Amino acid sequence: MTTQNMPFVLFGSGGHAVSVADLLEATGVNDIYAFSLPNHENLTKYKAISGETIEANLRSLNLVLAIGSLELRKSFMQQNLKIFQQGRFPTLIHPKSYVSPDLKIGKGSTIFANAYVGPSCIIGDFVVVNTNSVIEHNSIIGDTVMLGPSVTLCGNVNIGDDSFVGVGACISPKIKIGKNVTVGACSFVNTDVSSNRKVYGLPAREIK
Ligand SMILES: CC(C)(COP(=O)(O)OP(=O)(O)OC[C@H]1O[C@@H](n2cnc3c(N)ncnc32)[C@H](O)[C@@H]1OP(=O)(O)O)[C@@H](O)C(=O)NCCC(=O)NCCS
Repeated sequence: MTTQNMPFVLFGSGGHAVSVADLLEATGVNDIYAFSLPNHENLTKYKAISGETIEANLRSLNLVLAIGSLELRKSFMQQNLKIFQQGRFPTLIHPKSYVSPDLKIGKGSTIFANAYVGPSCIIGDFVVVNTNSVIEHNSIIGDTVMLGPSVTLCGNVNIGDDSFVGVGACISPKIKIGKNVTVGACSFVNTDVSSNRKVYGLPAREIK
């Protein structure tokens, strides 16, 4: 059985999970199970699977982190360390995106339709590059970063772990954004942003 033929399990059941399932189906995957978080809706289109079954079959499942909220993603990962350390989390790339062949990308990252990732970029683990986003050449994205739809990173941009860039934001060339930064929707970032800051606007400024 090839890796692609092993069943896929989605962690999450909200809008982001629906989009990830759509991506999987676009790549020809149709053996999909859904693990819904406690007190969250169920993704009824797919077969349900329990945490015990997942743990018992860790090496024969493809696991996908499909939780849209960055906060919830991080807490879910912390609460399920064994699964995240030992499970198989493939990188998912929509067939209608363009990704430069020299991309270095970590496990569990997802690149949605119409995204463009230029040459000499590095993307960490569990990163979401949303629909229609552009990552230009020589950019470096840390772990657990989430880029909203239609984000543009010009060349040589650097984004630290756990940061979130809102829909439609544009980051100027050579800008460095620290860890755990939030960039508001439709912002234009033209100065470096240090870690643990929240910025928005044209140009983006810190929200106190
Ligand atoms: C920047 C952001 C994180 C701030 O959230 P928040 O701390 O809850 O702040 P609020 O929504 O209370 O907004 C505070 C003020 O900033 C303004 N504001 C918020 N986001 C803004 C933005 N991106 N651009 C301009 N103004 C913004 C609000 O209108 C409000 O103004 P007011 O005080 O005059 O009424 C949030 O607004 C945002 O942009 N989130 C990104 C959403 C997104 O892209 N989701 C992607 C889904 S895939």
